[in-house]
Amino acid sequence: EKGGFEHFMMKEIFEQPRSVRDCMRGRIFPLEGKVELGGIKQYTDKLKNAERIIIIACGTSWHAGLTGEYLIEEYGRIKVEVEYASEFRYRNPIITDKDIVMAVSQSGETADTLAAIEIAKERGATILGICNVVGSSIPRVTDAGVYTHAGPEIGVASTKAFTAQVTVLTLIALYIAQHKGTLTPAKLSSMLTELDTIPDKIQTLLQDNDLIELIASKIKDAPNCLFLGRGFGFPVALEGALKLKEISYIHAEGYPAAEMKHGPIALIDEQMPVIFIATKNSSYEKVISNIQEVKARKGIVIAIVTQGDVKVKNMADHCIEIPDADEAFLPLLATIPLQLLAYHIAVKRGCNVDQPRNLAKSVTVE
Ligand code: F6R
Repeated sequence: EKGGFEHFMMKEIFEQPRSVRDCMRGRIFPLEGKVELGGIKQYTDKLKNAERIIIIACGTSWHAGLTGEYLIEEYGRIKVEVEYASEFRYRNPIITDKDIVMAVSQSGETADTLAAIEIAKERGATILGICNVVGSSIPRVTDAGVYTHAGPEIGVASTKAFTAQVTVLTLIALYIAQHKGTLTPAKLSSMLTELDTIPDKIQTLLQDNDLIELIASKIKDAPNCLFLGRGFGFPVALEGALKLKEISYIHAEGYPAAEMKHGPIALIDEQMPVIFIATKNSSYEKVISNIQEVKARKGIVIAIVTQGDVKVKNMADHCIEIPDADEAFLPLLATIPLQLLAYHIAVKRGCNVDQPRNLAKSVTVE
């Protein structure tokens, strides 16, 4: 049942080339520069004319929501707010019938997300669901939605469900761009062509597994870890930190790299591993200066870099290479080595990775 893997989490990490592919199947048409999302087709006009989209979710799904904000604002040019469902439901949120609310949930059963949907519904918003479990409660109360089709996720820590959520949000961003004309047909076509290659790139980067296990053995006894990224690397940093803390019980924080100097830099000493998302994209040079700031304080730098990188390699203690890609697709790639890192650290610490203490796969109480 674990397909030869020791844990469901590892099996599910290794399933990602296929789950991301399944999630895009029948939905992208690179040559025609077209995205088709049957589930939300009847809301196309509403979506493209929306002045605001509010994404509600919890935990890892909230991190996917944050990548959704970056993607939809960048490519669809619609204002997006990402809200923790638990906060949204209790603060008398300002919602009208002009709003689109997207609920992101793997299980489709999360109590806070369900309650937040009810409030948005009462106030007349259009509710779209992005869920994994077919026929679960959230898809039943939404107006329409897009399933993530990642397949059953057994490990409590979300892995393949996260990358499938990010894939769907990428598709929605490009779908909006297609209908609003915020991307040219040529650009759309080239982005979809590249998106189509992402499953193969995930397959390639999974080959770093042994190297990541080695890095894990070097930092497994750290009491704390920092994860830093900018732009599309920021939600990745948050997700990397959550994976590590929930399965290895190491205290970890994700931060926008530039925020480090506003506080967390005080934590850095020779004991502190700092994991950077330092791929070649628009924030590359800025992340490099953040790495220098950490090295100047003797922190241990582990960097996720673009294949062939030299600059960061000369500064970091350990590097993990990922294939080059448009920065829009960074979360789909850079998250995966962080899942593996968390996994190997947790296993080395003797933790129950599939069922971490105090956690449940679906949180049906508030
Ligand atoms: C983390 C994790 C949780 C869930 C959260 C929301 O690995 O699994 O943070 O993401 O409880 O659950 P869903 O997506 O089912 O609403």
